[in-house]
Amino acid sequence: MIAPLRVGIAGLGTVGAEVVRLIEQQGKILSARCGRGIKVVAVTARSKTKKRGVDLRGIRWAKDPMAIAVDPEVDCFVELMGGVGDPALSAIEAALASGKSVVTANKALIARHGLKLAALAEQHGGALNYEAAVAGAIPVVKTLREGLAGTGVDRVYGILNGTCNYILSRMEQEGLSFADCLKDAQRLGYAEANPSFDVDGHDTAQKLAILASLAFGTKVAQSAVYVEGITSIAAADLRAAAELGYRVKLLGVAVRTATGIEQRVHPTMVPRTSSIAQVMGVTNAVTIDGAGISPITLVGPGAGGAATASAVLADIADVARGVRALPFGRPVAKLAATTKAPMERHEGGYYIRLMARDLAGTAARIATRLAEQKISIESIVQRHPDGMIDAVDATKKSSPVPVILITYATSEDAMRRALQAVQSDKVISGRPQVIRIEKN
Ligand code: HSE
Repeated sequence: MIAPLRVGIAGLGTVGAEVVRLIEQQGKILSARCGRGIKVVAVTARSKTKKRGVDLRGIRWAKDPMAIAVDPEVDCFVELMGGVGDPALSAIEAALASGKSVVTANKALIARHGLKLAALAEQHGGALNYEAAVAGAIPVVKTLREGLAGTGVDRVYGILNGTCNYILSRMEQEGLSFADCLKDAQRLGYAEANPSFDVDGHDTAQKLAILASLAFGTKVAQSAVYVEGITSIAAADLRAAAELGYRVKLLGVAVRTATGIEQRVHPTMVPRTSSIAQVMGVTNAVTIDGAGISPITLVGPGAGGAATASAVLADIADVARGVRALPFGRPVAKLAATTKAPMERHEGGYYIRLMARDLAGTAARIATRLAEQKISIESIVQRHPDGMIDAVDATKKSSPVPVILITYATSEDAMRRALQAVQSDKVISGRPQVIRIEKN
């Protein structure tokens, strides 16, 4: 009979408390699946007295995370405090250095220090499991690292932030304001402590950097990710997208191109009939395009205590079974440097919404500027203030009107040059709204 795996948990927020509860509740199933029991022997958190709805009797309360990390009575250190630096970082380093296995949900820490930590895990023989860091309950880390170990991946993309998808879905479906939707996401426990991290795209960027490393066998390079968030998305864009057969999603996309690996996070128009467009609310989705296989799409809950705890528990179960995958799928020394494909070289279609002077010649001027950059227009429509979209009719009116263009594939560089020229022609007011189109 193998002794139970002794687990120490630092951080008892929504996720940590749920992990304790699940281990208690599913003890028998877990021990059948792992061939041994799993026992929480020590915990720590900022407040000892806070009500968490879980029974902590019989579990030692440690004075701080480090005390658990170096405790010889603990086999597996579970870090659920968050934060890119200390105390999480030093505690994980200490745990790995003492030969323990580590399970964490900390995407910021893995994106920033993952390589250093993976090297420590390799050196001392422990596991470093972080499934919960990306896309909540969806087992995408395992899928890329183990399930697709025999397949060359060309592109991985997805909806990686539940808060943003929740906000965009409710804004579109219920006509609610950005602020109201964000408040609800916070109330439901999806949003980060600082929601700018979600809505400005940084949360997605960290997750994407991790996925890109697993997909392409490259070093995690968060600084190579181009990032735009969703705060500029207006109800007018969501309406226009619907009318034109698209839906707006915040996507993280990592793709191999001729110039290197393109990693980008931005609001994206996806065809309304595509599978990714059907993913609504807090749900996440990841699509993997691999050589010789049709794209694989994984869909599931990406945020919230239960989703994250499910992934944490699966990682603990692997440690209990003695399964130890290399954290990034290959030895750290074998990970290639990331060659960053410059965003200016990105190629794709674009949605552009401009507030244009409603005078004869305006549409012609805009079309000329695009043509000068060899940008071909797929459609151009003018929205009248009553909300209807018609073909552009440059009748004389004084106030600016929204003009919406969809282009065929072009380069980011050409698009930026064309829009600069349109702005200097003074036929539009304000800045153009630009949303990239991703077709699959
Ligand atoms: N704030 C994140 C989200 C939580 O909304 O997806 C999971 O990382």
